[in-house]
Amino acid sequence: MNIRRASPQDLMNMQHCNLLCLPENYQMKYYFYHGLSWPQLSYVAEDENQKVVGYVLAKMEEDPDEKPHGHITSLAVKRSHRRLGLAQKLMDQASRAMVECFNAQYVSLHVRKSNRAALHLYQNTLKFEVSEIEPKYYADGEDAYAMRRDLTNFLNKSSKDKDKSKSDIKDEITEQINRASQGLEKLAISDNKMETEKNAEEQKKKGENQEKNVEEKKKETSEKPGDDGKKRDNTEKGRGGGEGKTGKESRKGRRKNREGHKTEEKGAS
Ligand SMILES: CC(C)(COP(=O)(O)OP(=O)(O)OC[C@H]1O[C@@H](n2cnc3c(N)ncnc32)[C@H](O)[C@@H]1OP(=O)(O)O)[C@@H](O)C(=O)NCCC(=O)NCCS
Repeated sequence: MNIRRASPQDLMNMQHCNLLCLPENYQMKYYFYHGLSWPQLSYVAEDENQKVVGYVLAKMEEDPDEKPHGHITSLAVKRSHRRLGLAQKLMDQASRAMVECFNAQYVSLHVRKSNRAALHLYQNTLKFEVSEIEPKYYADGEDAYAMRRDLTNFLNKSSKDKDKSKSDIKDEITEQINRASQGLEKLAISDNKMETEKNAEEQKKKGENQEKNVEEKKKETSEKPGDDGKKRDNTEKGRGGGEGKTGKESRKGRRKNREGHKTEEKGAS
């Protein structure tokens, strides 16, 4: 089920729907008068086959002495599609358009005193109030209730709704960004963890290799004791020779230093 603005092509189907539902009928030119003068204000409800199953025909009242206000000329929904909320939606759409396009302060209509369904819809659901009773308003002599619905709150509500939807979108985007950055943080943490684990693994491997080398060296030593002895011999020899040289050199050095010290003392005097 779809509610959309009525186009001139819909006007014949709207008239057809009116003939099925109401005793108050209008000539085709009256539909065109509405459709051409206030194309923003009339809406249709269509079914899944794009067949018109309901309509609202609306206009603006053009009395310069009164506050700007709209008027519902006719409303009907085919029997097959009643109690689905279509009339309520059609009325709300038309009222919103009156406010947004013409700055309407209220919307008016007439209803038969005996029309229980329509009265229920207007009074209980849409919060219309009876402004006066018009005796013998209808051709058959029935009285009408003249009703009004204040649209000043409707105006505030629709601008609040716009603000709300803007802030909803902002909140949604902020939440998406937060979720994305949380995801990135998690990724970074797991990256760091992986890096640390990798390093630890490498360290462990290094240690194992060193142990392995030491083990192998030990093995080699125990397999070739001669070689190992030579090395140890050389080391001991080297150590011994070194010590000797160092001893001689240090003695020479001490002597040189003593001489140098004397030279410096000379130069300074
Ligand atoms: C009056 C009419 C337009 C309602 O159309 P609708 O699409 O069935 O109405 P909705 O589904 O939007 O009804 C919204 C509310 O209005 C009230 N309502 C609608 N029909 C009702 C009924 N027969 N009896 C009591 N309450 C009714 C209910 O509160 C309903 O809400 P609910 O279904 O949650 O209880 C429809 O019955 C109709 O076309 N009637 C003949 C034409 C007519 O009388 N037009 C009005 C000329 S002034």
